[in-house]
Amino acid sequence: MENIKLNIDKSLSFISKEQVYGYEAKVKECQAMLHKGTGLGNDFLGWLNLPSSITDAFLNEIMEVANDLRSRCEVVVVAGIGGSYLGARSVIDALSNSFAWLQESKNPVMVYAGNNIGEDYLAELSEYLKGKKFGIINISKSGTTTETALAFRILKTQLEEQVGKAEAQKLIVAVTDAAKGALRTLATQEGYRTFVIPDNVGGRFSVLTPVGLLPIAVAGFDIKQLVAGAQKMEELCGENVPFAENPAAIYAATRNELYSNGKKIEILVNYHPKLHYIGEWWKQLYGESEGKDLKGIFPAAVDYSTDLHSMGQWVQEGERTIFETVISIKNPNKKVVVPTDADNLDGLNFLAGKRVDEVNKMAELGVVIAHVDGQVPNMQIEMPQLNEYYIGQLFYFFEKACGISGYLLGVNPFNQPGVEAYKKNMFALLDKPGYEKESEAIKARL
Ligand code: PA5
Repeated sequence: MENIKLNIDKSLSFISKEQVYGYEAKVKECQAMLHKGTGLGNDFLGWLNLPSSITDAFLNEIMEVANDLRSRCEVVVVAGIGGSYLGARSVIDALSNSFAWLQESKNPVMVYAGNNIGEDYLAELSEYLKGKKFGIINISKSGTTTETALAFRILKTQLEEQVGKAEAQKLIVAVTDAAKGALRTLATQEGYRTFVIPDNVGGRFSVLTPVGLLPIAVAGFDIKQLVAGAQKMEELCGENVPFAENPAAIYAATRNELYSNGKKIEILVNYHPKLHYIGEWWKQLYGESEGKDLKGIFPAAVDYSTDLHSMGQWVQEGERTIFETVISIKNPNKKVVVPTDADNLDGLNFLAGKRVDEVNKMAELGVVIAHVDGQVPNMQIEMPQLNEYYIGQLFYFFEKACGISGYLLGVNPFNQPGVEAYKKNMFALLDKPGYEKESEAIKARL
């Protein structure tokens, strides 16, 4: 069985292999801090050995609830934001037929809420759900996130109106803290089925808990394979794996060395639109983990070749503060061959008989060469195939590298104090009880 592979060769004309390998001792220290729990944020290390601690019995329990929801619902709404949403969506989008949501027969259709406060979005979702048999997976670790709680209140009201309170109870599942928070209280009171988000797993590291696993199973994907892939990567990135053989160590070292050399922005690149939300998940993982203490690589993501026609100019010739990490899929799951056309009016007969993926791969290769010529260091992460197993590998690879990378940078990768500032202002402006003093102060500034 192959594994995902990291290749940093296209960065080595900007930084040397010796510079990357110069991180070996520091990476070893960071690994030890993670595995011994002696570093900053050590109360949030539950993700570290999570894959190998997941039992088949636990996965069966999740699948049982997932299958029940699948059998009852035409549509399942996943309500959650940030780490309580992006992991599930990234897997479901990556593995679903791109047009699944248009296929009436697809059961259930997965839709998302609680990740924005757009009134039109909620109104249109509500309209779409009218008369449909729908279920809700409400995911919030704190149980008090406004975006999610607000959407859930609206959806719960609609569901109870459509099917009655007793039936709604069977169609709602809550994923939240074991004991704390408004969602736990509400779930207990209403008798919803629940799953627990472990205390020591932060939102952006929670995709392999029921936060990600339940919606992914409801969408019909193989969570056992997802976890098996993550388990394999846990082994490949283990504390005692030599630096040169540990992809998470090499990735963390390379991006930190590039950062030290003025490359302040990392762009995660994909060549398949299905991977868009993997980029969103990755941005959150690295953005929230490293962007603090006035430091941190800015994580951006693009979908090529689409974005070559929008961002391509900037990447090729804009400020030289960027590097790219390309997720490359070795073998696509489907096959389309370019047809021959007798008239060749579009001039494309030179591609006739070739697979579309060959064109995509040549675009990828052409872009790497052009961007490296344009002074943009590149790394490549090759996935043998887009499936649950390799996505599981990818998740754990990025998580482990993120823990190491955050410690290399000298920050606490497991907190997110900066996310609170907007919440305080919003609550003050909305006159939330308990924010009276802040309310007066902020209103005086308007
Ligand atoms: O990674 C994080 O901690 C955040 O992105 C949270 O997941 C997000 O804010 C949602 O929080 P909660 O699950 O408490 O609703």
